[in-house]
Amino acid sequence: MNENEPQYLWWQEGIIYQVYPRSYQDSNNDGVGDIQGIIHRLDYLQWLGVTIIWLSPVYPSPMKDFGYDISGYTDIHPLFGTLADFDTLVTELHTREMKLVIDLVPNHTSDEHPWFTESRSSRDDPRRDWYIWRDAGPNGEPPNNWLSVFGGSAWEWDENTQQYYYHAFLTAQPDLNFRNPDVVEAMKDIMRFWLDRGVDGFRVDVMWHMIKDELLRDNPPNPAYQEHMVTYDSLLPVFSTDQPEVHSIVHEMRKVLDAYNERMMIGEIYLPLDKLVTYYGIDNRGAHLPFNFLLLHVQWDALSIAALVAAYEAALPPGAWPNWVLGNHDQSRIRSRVGSEQARIAAMLLLTLRGTPTIYYGDELGMRDVSIPLEEIQDPQGLNMPEKDVSRDPARTPMQWDTSEHSGFTTATPWLRTDRAYMRDNVATQLEDEDSILRLYNRLATLRQNEPALKTGSYKSVAVNRNGLAYIREANGTRFLIALNFSHRPCRLQLHGQLEGEIILATAPGLEGTAIDNTLYLGGDDGIIVRLAN
Ligand code: NOJ
Repeated sequence: MNENEPQYLWWQEGIIYQVYPRSYQDSNNDGVGDIQGIIHRLDYLQWLGVTIIWLSPVYPSPMKDFGYDISGYTDIHPLFGTLADFDTLVTELHTREMKLVIDLVPNHTSDEHPWFTESRSSRDDPRRDWYIWRDAGPNGEPPNNWLSVFGGSAWEWDENTQQYYYHAFLTAQPDLNFRNPDVVEAMKDIMRFWLDRGVDGFRVDVMWHMIKDELLRDNPPNPAYQEHMVTYDSLLPVFSTDQPEVHSIVHEMRKVLDAYNERMMIGEIYLPLDKLVTYYGIDNRGAHLPFNFLLLHVQWDALSIAALVAAYEAALPPGAWPNWVLGNHDQSRIRSRVGSEQARIAAMLLLTLRGTPTIYYGDELGMRDVSIPLEEIQDPQGLNMPEKDVSRDPARTPMQWDTSEHSGFTTATPWLRTDRAYMRDNVATQLEDEDSILRLYNRLATLRQNEPALKTGSYKSVAVNRNGLAYIREANGTRFLIALNFSHRPCRLQLHGQLEGEIILATAPGLEGTAIDNTLYLGGDDGIIVRLAN
């Protein structure tokens, strides 16, 4: 290795895969996935080519928000296993040279967390100020107009102590008061607990919510609000989120990580690009990867995607490392957003862009959103606002492993129904099919891991028109051209310069091995990776 070549860290070179533990693999047949189940599937994950597992919460929790309501930060919910199981998971991952990133939910606890039980016990309790308590207005109304993301007011009246407490999400998820330094210290201790156990990083839940306006000023109305939107969107959350003080808290958390060797922090942040990139922090001393959710809501066409990639690349602060996300447990699945053919293009895009990719479990099989009857809905967001049709359950259904009953996820009744399409869309069946989306993901991931140009090389857009997009990734003189047709119709892309090469990977069979030159002809839904001759 040339000494002048830049060195990259595991979270820059790697591929993240999100495991939603309830739905991955049940090992004790109670219908809910668990840690032993995940351990059982590590060989699969290693084969797939992902290197970093992000595990959604496995902490003790009343499960009102499926683990995002934590009642104990330093233990494991018996549904998922034990701390010993967790330690085994860490060891097994590290043996495979894989990494573990766990969810950290600092913004709020469960109302069953002992901190909150103490806090609500009396106004004089030492923990009172750990949460956000305020008097009612003159007519008994809440302290301000803030709304809960899950519907209704964000303030809940406590009869016993005659004050309101603030909750950005469920009433069962009271927000902690990050203006209290003891809360910050407690969260830092929790981080150390898990870092000492060997976790490699955290995905920090709702990072941009962590601190609120000191004066609790009313949020202004959203002029773009429309009836079909959730009520939360009727106001602009300018005083309840993304406060300037959040960055010093993120920096405090970063300092905890920096005291260890090569640990990292991802921030869950839904904000416009210019605000998102501020979470890298001054001199990149904030979050290592503020999650980039641009692909989740983009209009799926070449011009929009080209513009979005250009805007993101341009907005990154110097030295900040990019990342891309195609799906997560709060969003509609990629295949349901763009269709089966374009899901393959999306895979090629995700795994050839510059920056750490995140794959949501099951997207590698083309799992789709599953229709869940009203009476089976589990998600509080769906239950609280049934008329808005915003349940997140459809994207959280059991992983589809094989053709056995309940897709090999469990032998009991699964906590959420399995897609009836599992007979076709499952790991075992797709492994047998060279042209399956699973095999495509595997080949893309493997190629990326083996080629520095794709893993960490530069990015340059070289052609775009209304149907397609082409770009070049380059490192150490090795160049790859990626051309993607975002339409179902044929697409011609005119390149400039003297480009020649051979297609080494394609979304559709029959293209590999073909030579290309400056004029690219792509069939509908075709994506190609070309190794360019120098
Ligand atoms: C973001 C998580 O991704 C989501 O699932 C959860 O409901 C909220 N934060 C509240 O914790």
